[in-house]
Amino acid sequence: MRVMLLGAPGSGKGTQAAVLKGLYGIPHISTGDILRAELARGTELGKKAGSYMNGGGLVPDDVILELIETRLGEPDARRGWLLDGFPRTLVQAHGLVELTDRIGQAVDAGLILHVDPEVVVQRLSGRRGCGKCQKVTNVAEAVSGACPNCGGPLVLREDDRPEVVRTRIQVFEQQTRPVFELFRGRYALYDIDASKTPEQVTEAIRKALGKHE
Ligand code: AP5
Ligand code: MG
Repeated sequence: MRVMLLGAPGSGKGTQAAVLKGLYGIPHISTGDILRAELARGTELGKKAGSYMNGGGLVPDDVILELIETRLGEPDARRGWLLDGFPRTLVQAHGLVELTDRIGQAVDAGLILHVDPEVVVQRLSGRRGCGKCQKVTNVAEAVSGACPNCGGPLVLREDDRPEVVRTRIQVFEQQTRPVFELFRGRYALYDIDASKTPEQVTEAIRKALGKHE
């Protein structure tokens, strides 16, 4: 199965992808995660991307398209994939169409996770990542102040500061929302209410993807 997880910052793409990759046995490909790993390793790509990411802007399309082409060429991507956070501009959307046609990997479905901006701000101010096992959690779940999975230290993502979150929401509205309209006539797109609990959101996604299994 080849699926795109689309939606605003904080809509729950990463949370759902972590569950869906196990359910469907396909790799979770998050451009944000790949870029953060490059940033942590201090590579040239990471340094270049970091300057855009930390301010809430988007990394240039040519960088992202090259990264995706490389990743979709890896052996595990032959089984299918779950794209998280890509495409998020019209240029990237056209790039994905061109790439999938060229390599013969058609997109089966797109899931649009819908959530109000106020919920986004609230969720992202409470999001923490574990510095040890990388699990993403929320301050409400981590009552002891440590990772509920491994007890590791919790860290706030650099771009989850409220002023940066506001920029990310604006960028989403201006640059990413037009992608949904472009894709409506082309792919099977499903609108998912992502304001429900994570379990309810997973259930709604499973129901939508049932037609593509
Ligand atoms: P990226 O990492 O893709 O960030 P994003 O799209 O802004 O989305 P987030 O990861 O913030 O949110 P999410 O939807 O994954 O939510 P999560 O599940 O964590 O991109 C970061 C940056 O990298 C970009 O700004 C850009 O600079 C660059 N970049 C990446 N891709 C790019 C591209 N294609 N082109 C150009 N630049 C690119 O959940 C959030 C919180 O809510 C968590 O605490 C979670 O526990 C909680 N939560 C989740 N679901 C629920 C629920 N149902 N109910 C209650 N709480 C919930
Ligand atoms: Mg994410």
